[in-house]
Amino acid sequence: MEKIYKRIFILTGAGISAESGIGTFRDANGLWNNHKVEDVATVEAFEKNPQYVHRFYNELKPNLLEAKPNLAHLCLTKLQEHYKGQVDIITQNVDVLHEKAGSKNIYHMHGKIDEAICLNCGHLLQSNDDVDMSTICPHCAMAGFMKPNIVFFGEMPLYMPEIEKKLRECDLFISIGTSGVVYPAAGFVHTAKYYGAYTIEFNLEKTSNNYLFDEHISGKCTETLPQFVEQLIAVQENMENENGY
Ligand code: APR
Repeated sequence: MEKIYKRIFILTGAGISAESGIGTFRDANGLWNNHKVEDVATVEAFEKNPQYVHRFYNELKPNLLEAKPNLAHLCLTKLQEHYKGQVDIITQNVDVLHEKAGSKNIYHMHGKIDEAICLNCGHLLQSNDDVDMSTICPHCAMAGFMKPNIVFFGEMPLYMPEIEKKLRECDLFISIGTSGVVYPAAGFVHTAKYYGAYTIEFNLEKTSNNYLFDEHISGKCTETLPQFVEQLIAVQENMENENGY
């Protein structure tokens, strides 16, 4: 790993926020073990019963918004601050813990819990309060058109053109706390590797996607990631000293 990387692409999933008290989706007591995806996370579900879907996300909101960033979120901010290369964070999470940790260049490909979008005029509403079908859009003044700004199954994730460009250009691809079963995120490692990036998976255990990665680092990401980030920064400093930068 004695290399200074130019562009680091970091993909995060629910596992990075687990130690901040936000349940994951597919682990033992995960969200999808207690709720049916087809009732709360599909376009059809929202069309059939928008009020039920709004209630589901409104009930999730307080815990997600009150949660605090953990060491794993914080050390990504440290990497962005100390590393000369470009470091981008593409998250599948709808919580705002990367922002709370002070990170930048964050792409929420599955949306954000504190946002809703008006299906009448396209206005993006930022709100920490409940949003539902009675919410009046501040832009078009219409009620009944607000949808949680969450990418439902069957919808195109956000920022895909930027993400695909960064995947082709990165020389280090890191995946943190994602089970690698939901596409297109699960396929990102493929693209990064195809264009020559070195690829590392951080997860509690090896995921079904593990064989695609050059390296796997097992364990809680609050324990494994800080050490890894320190190493990346140390290598950069050593090589700069050696080369008299
Ligand atoms: N440290 C590292 N990894 C962890 C930790 C931890 N402390 N805790 C859990 N994990 C790992 C689990 O082993 C699992 O592989 O995080 C992964 C979480 O997987 P999922 O629950 O499937 O979440 P994710 O991969 O982010 O889901 C992807 O699916 O439901 C949709 O849109 C939703 O964004 C979500 C997408």
